[in-house]
Amino acid sequence: MNESQNNDFKRIQNKADIVEIINSYVKLESHGKNYFGVCPFHDDHSPSMSVSKDKQIYKCFVCGATGNVFTFVENFLGVSFIEAVKVVADKIGEDFVVHKSKQNTVYEKYYKIMDLATKLYENNLRTKIGEEARKYLKDRGLTDEIIKDFSIGLAITDNDQLYKLLEKKKIPLKDMQDLGLVNNGERGIYDLFRNRIIFPLKNPDGKVNGFSGRIYNTTSNSKYVNTKETIIFKKRENLYNYHLAAPAARLEKSIIICEGFMDAIRIYSIGLKNVVATMGTALAKQQVELLKKLGVKVILVMDNDNAGEMATLSLGESLLKEGMDIGVVRLTGKKDPDEYILEYGAMAFKDNIKNPMSFIDFIFIALKKDKDLSNPIQLTEYINKVLSIISVSSDSLLIETCINKLSNDYHLDKELLKARLTSNEEIKNIKVETKKEETNTNKEVKKSTKFERALSVMLYYMMHSESAMRLYLKEDFDLPKNKYRLVANNLVYYFELNKEIDFADYLTFAEDYEDVVPTVKEIISNVNLPEFKDSDIKAAIAIVRKHLNEEKIKLIKEEMKNELDVSRRKRLFEKIIEIKRGCVGNNEEE
Ligand code: UTP
Ligand code: MN
Repeated sequence: MNESQNNDFKRIQNKADIVEIINSYVKLESHGKNYFGVCPFHDDHSPSMSVSKDKQIYKCFVCGATGNVFTFVENFLGVSFIEAVKVVADKIGEDFVVHKSKQNTVYEKYYKIMDLATKLYENNLRTKIGEEARKYLKDRGLTDEIIKDFSIGLAITDNDQLYKLLEKKKIPLKDMQDLGLVNNGERGIYDLFRNRIIFPLKNPDGKVNGFSGRIYNTTSNSKYVNTKETIIFKKRENLYNYHLAAPAARLEKSIIICEGFMDAIRIYSIGLKNVVATMGTALAKQQVELLKKLGVKVILVMDNDNAGEMATLSLGESLLKEGMDIGVVRLTGKKDPDEYILEYGAMAFKDNIKNPMSFIDFIFIALKKDKDLSNPIQLTEYINKVLSIISVSSDSLLIETCINKLSNDYHLDKELLKARLTSNEEIKNIKVETKKEETNTNKEVKKSTKFERALSVMLYYMMHSESAMRLYLKEDFDLPKNKYRLVANNLVYYFELNKEIDFADYLTFAEDYEDVVPTVKEIISNVNLPEFKDSDIKAAIAIVRKHLNEEKIKLIKEEMKNELDVSRRKRLFEKIIEIKRGCVGNNEEE
């Protein structure tokens, strides 16, 4: 970064107001000194992101995303830092010239060449020579606007139209070859893409790094010809339409994944811009990372055939492993989303997207297909398959629910199923080295009990509602010495200082208390209740009370066991009765 550029940043940062800029993407509301909004960087439900006008920073209490106006735009739009500065400058009407670093210019030269090629192909499509191709696209229902958005073009039948153009521009033959545009073989020099409609492939920054060419007026055994791996095109790092889908996905809080890019284009054209295509079936690690970065729900809409079903299972498994929220849509009647939308209309498709089934439900249904589960061998196969997929998840509650379901549906012993799961895990551990840390946190989550969930819900209510806080104080609980007790005390302290409850304000307050932060985060990301009804609050408190009483009774019974003095035993017994009565009495009060 050079001096003048550095000054530019400061000038723009000083002029820009972070509240205004963020508010142009995410709705913010003011609470005291700060502004709050739903965090776009994780699957947020209640406003956890605070924006400080004074400090000109934003911070999400749950996922920890934090930074200044530039980093917000950078992450929100999925652009580079420099591009984010440019976006902010444009928004506030300031000048900003992008100076490129040396490192970028190495690749820049290749992107420039790809740009020249894209322009040539686009131009071909617009001119007389492109008439037939234009008709093909029109017949497929692609409008001029869509053609422009996706930079669709045409490679004509000539052997070397692109080569000639690039040669005239003094581009070295080696660069053309390195980019997979031109071949220099026995037949001489010729273009790789000929007589095909060209769909440029773009990297996550929106720069063209490859092409896919589709036949349109001939028959050929390869429907599509694609750029092979090149210095700038790595198949494993690309998802079709990612650069446009990323900002849309953050707004919609979901991303749709389909197989073919024609499907992605169709889905985009009915207004669902949060769509990417895998352009094949498997998802590479880098592609999963790109999706994970969005922090939103993933909706899989693969083709309506066996291969699509297999793809859904394997993609779902890779995403489940990363702890992502996955929905599945299976279309019937037509081969893929493109044809489905053309046949049944945009509304029907959108309905499906709005109501996806969970990936777990999908596993149970899909793996059952063509299986006779009254046959013990096939049933065993089925159960093993289900267990092997869900075991990649580190969500122990989810695993527990699945085991309960299998156990109920097929009258199997839960412990047996769990043992299966463990042995699966062990097998996996040999293959993939999992970190010790991970297994530890797993165990901790597994121990989460009904009591702890009730505590979480109760505390959640206390963070949001004064009436919950008052009900809690009335109880005068003696909570067990654990992390929840710390949060409860912290909340009471907050209430004593402020005499009122304001969720957003409490989050800012709690930040100064290191030992409560992780639990507060845990609670607000696990609990999501839209309403704060007194009856619900009382119900949560009642569960907590019941558990505390049971614990007390357990202790007294323990004491009774060792007590030889009959009259003392009697008194202990009466104490138990009293506790039990207390329960009843309190319940009646409700
Ligand atoms: P499909 O055969 O499902 O293509 O392949 P599609 O999306 O329905 O295309 P249209 O509707 O016939 O035009 C899905 C994806 O697999 C890759 C492409 O990326 C395509 O988008 N593919 C398919 C190839 O690379 N080569 C092929 O020959 C076929
Ligand atoms: Mn198709």
